[in-house]
Amino acid sequence: MCGIVGYIGHREAYPVLIKGLHRLEYRGYDSAGVALINGDLRIYKIAGKVSELEKETEGKNTHGTCGIGHTRWATHGEPNTRNAHPHVSESKNLAIIHNGIIENYAPLKTELKKRGHAFLSDTDTEVLIHLIEDIQLNEKVDLVEAVRIALNQVIGAYAIVIVSKDEPDMLIAARKSSPMVVGIGEGEYFVASDASPLIEYTRNVVYLNDEEIAIVRRDKGLEIITIHNETITPYLQELQMQLDMIEKGGYDHYMLKEIYEQPNSIMDSMRGRLIGSRNTIVLGGIKEYEKKLTNAKRMIIIGCGTSWHAGLVGEYLFEDIARIPTEVEYASEFRYRNPVINEDDIVIAISQSGETADTLAAVELAKTKGATIFGICNVVGSSIPRATHAGSYTHAGPEIGVASTKAFTAQVTVLTLMALAIGRKRGTITESKYQSIAIELSKIPEKVQEVLKSNAHIRQIAEEYAHVQNFLYLGRGYNFPVALEGALKLKEISYIHAEGYPAAEMKHGPIALIDENMPVVVMATNMSAHDKIVSNIQEIRARKGRIIAIISENDEVIEEMAEHVIRIPDTEESLTPLLSVIPLQLLAYHIAVILGRNVDQPRNLAKSVTVE
Ligand code: AGP
Repeated sequence: MCGIVGYIGHREAYPVLIKGLHRLEYRGYDSAGVALINGDLRIYKIAGKVSELEKETEGKNTHGTCGIGHTRWATHGEPNTRNAHPHVSESKNLAIIHNGIIENYAPLKTELKKRGHAFLSDTDTEVLIHLIEDIQLNEKVDLVEAVRIALNQVIGAYAIVIVSKDEPDMLIAARKSSPMVVGIGEGEYFVASDASPLIEYTRNVVYLNDEEIAIVRRDKGLEIITIHNETITPYLQELQMQLDMIEKGGYDHYMLKEIYEQPNSIMDSMRGRLIGSRNTIVLGGIKEYEKKLTNAKRMIIIGCGTSWHAGLVGEYLFEDIARIPTEVEYASEFRYRNPVINEDDIVIAISQSGETADTLAAVELAKTKGATIFGICNVVGSSIPRATHAGSYTHAGPEIGVASTKAFTAQVTVLTLMALAIGRKRGTITESKYQSIAIELSKIPEKVQEVLKSNAHIRQIAEEYAHVQNFLYLGRGYNFPVALEGALKLKEISYIHAEGYPAAEMKHGPIALIDENMPVVVMATNMSAHDKIVSNIQEIRARKGRIIAIISENDEVIEEMAEHVIRIPDTEESLTPLLSVIPLQLLAYHIAVILGRNVDQPRNLAKSVTVE
């Protein structure tokens, strides 16, 4: 939930760290700090964003070719300067940055206090660096060994980087359940939560595995051991990320850029997977499990937030097309409720980041119960794809705005491909229906481009509604998960209260909320339940609710009834979410901009939730 970066080499570390922290700020932005080694150990840290840290260091000595930096999403302790990372050891010779949670910090802290340690913050992280120094001094071992011993004593999740005033030519990094990548340049080394801080310096990276410790020495390079003291040969990989993928490219916000990238990102999710004149689906990552998938008795989809909403679309797809009973679970609930899982069940974990703690823990639980687990993730090399048996990457490219947009449409695209491939094998879909969905799917990128042309119109609607207190989103069938997703988008970036409901459920309660002040976004595209949604609209109108309807291009019935309509091109009903979600993303975006919200970094949120 925090962003961490470290550098050792021939350059000044500070500019590398600051640029890296800006790129990692999507992971948390409650406070920021750096530690620099240059004869002494200097720490600058402050509550607020990385830009505040830059102001704080203006005119100060930031020299040094070894250093670490941190941007925080607070867990233990308020987001103030005192709790900002880096934290130091008792002697103040060691500094640490940390992403994760040390769950047993309380007993460790009590013990260390008894031994004379005094703490300057309320964080769990500070306890760890005190523990490491305590071990180093009392057991008379070197720093690497002290880190190793300490990590055997902690329970929880960590990605840490440590520097020492006395060992200016070394960085120590380690991970467990929080991501960490090591970049290897020409006589210089980088460590970071993801590859974005090192992208312009090197393409050679090593992703650390759980319980591995990387010892990076200026002259000797990278050495990896486990916390059980086994030596590991580093597995060098070539970075696929490009610099333009993580820049705003002329857009005001990453979120807008990512909304506009969807014609391409959906295409990339399909690339090489829908092939030939017969529209054969090839999902390389899950090929060897084809039989298992075809014979699955049940699908269980797990995820959180937007990924959970994509999972709900998956439920409609798998049941409709492949006739496989499907359940969709919040990963956070699944992991704690002793679920019944059979050998013939397939568990599908969906996650943009591939690092969400609840989803990762749910995957581990499902594994212990003998399920076959697939991942649908975006970040290559992240923890969830490594924990699953097989899977398909979404290939949407880096998503930096905290509000997920292109990841959702990419996840739905992969789920559609899976459902079609399985349905065809099982014979639960006719060949003509299969072909018609596959052909339509290949047209979705250009249809998304069409929907994006409504941007100016949606901006006008946003101006009219930006100052309301509440919103309702209603949808039926495939559009029900989209209603949930639209409400989530609005909530998280505009801070306006919004609820998503299945349209027919309105009369069982939410209808009481409707009056002339309540905007209701109704997903009313051409679908099997079109007449029913027309009735729902009438019910809202009768109570003076203000209707913003998402309708199909030729619909003239609803245009008469709604205050505003946003048209989307016709498509196969099962593909509707890929189009109907776009206006909702734009509506939320414009309302948040009009309200002056921080669209890419909304309050209290972080891009990847690596804590419970
Ligand atoms: C969506 O806009 C959110 N910011 C959030 O709900 C997100 O989808 C959720 O935290 C799951 O993340 P993941 O896809 O990286 O696992």
